[in-house]
Amino acid sequence: MSGGEVSFIGGPAPKASAIELYARKTAGFDERLARTIGLLKEAVSQYGAGLIQSTSLGAEDMVITDLIARHALPVAIATLDTGMLHDETLALVPAIEQRYGLKVEVFTPVQEAVITFVKANGEKPMYESLALRKACCAVRKLEPLARMLEGRTAWITGLRREQSSNRAEVPFSEDDGKGRAKLNVLAEWSWADVWHYIAANDVPFNALHDQFMPSIGCAPCTRAIAVGEDFRAGRWWWEDETAKECGLHATKEPA
Ligand code: ADX
Ligand code: SF4
Repeated sequence: MSGGEVSFIGGPAPKASAIELYARKTAGFDERLARTIGLLKEAVSQYGAGLIQSTSLGAEDMVITDLIARHALPVAIATLDTGMLHDETLALVPAIEQRYGLKVEVFTPVQEAVITFVKANGEKPMYESLALRKACCAVRKLEPLARMLEGRTAWITGLRREQSSNRAEVPFSEDDGKGRAKLNVLAEWSWADVWHYIAANDVPFNALHDQFMPSIGCAPCTRAIAVGEDFRAGRWWWEDETAKECGLHATKEPA
């Protein structure tokens, strides 16, 4: 065997496909799915046109978009294109439009603000300090998020409790601190649930999930993880665990 190859007893090495690795149906899946559909339908009747799905185009959010389409729910869909996303991520925007006939509204940062920030701090200052990383997130994510949520009363996210210790208590519904409801309709789903749904419904997904990137954000701030590493180990991997939120969801600032 040449260096770097792995041998598997009883057959060829399995292909590294996210679906093959994760898509087992586990006990309680049908109940969790039914609860999510119920939450989405309730949200539509409660918030009407005030409701929006905020999609990162990651696996969880693709499940939610599929549910919105499958149940013909009148929910706007939007994403934040920070200008730093992978091509594989951006490819999901036309994929959603083609597959479901649904428009994805894309919010981008204010170009002058990005130019000013890059001139002052360089292309990739996020590795230099937490303050600069947060400043980059503020320009590229938080300001566009504020615009995306203008006039909305509730937003749907793909946050799950299992994703990290910071998220272990994510409720189905919470106040986002700005007077809106944040609806985490997959809060109780496992990673296996997400992939079981994707496999069962042939949902389009980010090709980077097949390259050991379970959690995908901006390219400079995302890396593949190794077997046994935490789900979000590839996000802002040079930072302390408690800092690893970009401000879209952080409710309190880490000390
Ligand atoms: S992050 O805060 O660390 O970036 P994560 O990637 O786990 O969050 O995504 C959690 C949820 O935040 C997603 O399910 C989605 O609802 C929202 N989200 C994250 N990134 C984006 C984005 N680029 N555009 C829109 N929503 C996003
Ligand atoms: Fe900038 Fe990284 Fe934040 Fe994206 S995740 S906005 S590249 S610091």
